[in-house]
Amino acid sequence: MSEVDLTTLSLAELERVASERLPPMAWDYYASGADDERTLADNVRAWRERALHYRVLVDVATRDLSTTILGAPVAMPIAVAPTAFHRLAHPDGERATVAAAGDHGALFILSSLSNTPIEDVVAAARGPVWFQLYVYRDRAATEALVRRVEAAGATALVLTVDAPQLGRRERDVRNRFALPADLGVANLAGTGFAVTPGAIAESGLAAYFASLIDPSLSWRDLAWLRGITRLPVIVKGVIRADDARRAIDHGAAGIVVSNHGGRQLDTSPATATVLPAITAAVAGQLEVLVDGGIRRGTDVIKALALGARAVLVGRPVLWGLAAAGRAGAAAALAILRRELDLAMALCGAPSIAAIDRGLLEP
Ligand code: GLV
Repeated sequence: MSEVDLTTLSLAELERVASERLPPMAWDYYASGADDERTLADNVRAWRERALHYRVLVDVATRDLSTTILGAPVAMPIAVAPTAFHRLAHPDGERATVAAAGDHGALFILSSLSNTPIEDVVAAARGPVWFQLYVYRDRAATEALVRRVEAAGATALVLTVDAPQLGRRERDVRNRFALPADLGVANLAGTGFAVTPGAIAESGLAAYFASLIDPSLSWRDLAWLRGITRLPVIVKGVIRADDARRAIDHGAAGIVVSNHGGRQLDTSPATATVLPAITAAVAGQLEVLVDGGIRRGTDVIKALALGARAVLVGRPVLWGLAAAGRAGAAAALAILRRELDLAMALCGAPSIAAIDRGLLEP
């Protein structure tokens, strides 16, 4: 885009660039939370409000940000969260965002609602690709989707469990959010599962959920899903310790502590607030990832200090994508990586393993 080196910006500045470039309907879709957007704001605030009690006189001459997520080596504990419809932000869409993840050795999670087929995404990847799954009322279609995703080479399924119906995003309702005619839900093309343009007196995506996504999904269905796939299943959308224990009891390989970026139940708690009780309850029995409001490297350190294996970032990658395609999405990840590296140096934590709970305690 411009002469500005995007990697020198903060994510907040990148957000401003994206807001100027995106058409209003796409901007509102990505930016919005449910109802009064309280949880959306609380997610960001809750990380900021925690203090980092740094250690001094630790040798931090070299820092190592690498780790593993479910056994897969990654260059940093920052992954790309599943977000829908990347071609609303840039014509290169998910091909650009997965390539950007590859530029940083980061895990990429593709949304069920992608505008790009999983096969093309895996072909453009240089690191692990997981697939976020919505379970459709049509279980045969869901199973066919799982088969397709397995055959394409995704290495885990991320089952979103916080969306039996879509939260009410008032901006989308006002805009009658719909996809332009040339974009679709690529992995379900030809099935008639479309976010139809026009003629819907509310959010087209809310209508899509109401008619197609299965609101009867329950813990029992985790056994069904595990029965039809050889891939590990990560349960995304957990905000309670007892649900985290249930995920263990039902054979989940991991959980994502998430409130869907504040887009589902408004006034649900910020993820930073509930993470400590959840990691305590899980006691290392499965890996815990977290998303929601991560905007600074210091936020990443805090999440790891609270026991998360890694964080997922959604909107910031879309801001970068909107600003400059693959280079912009890569810039969003570069900004967070640079900030995490500096925060580790200033905290006296030269490796991911050195980030511990003590950094949050006086
Ligand atoms: C889709 O999952 C959305 O949150 O819009």
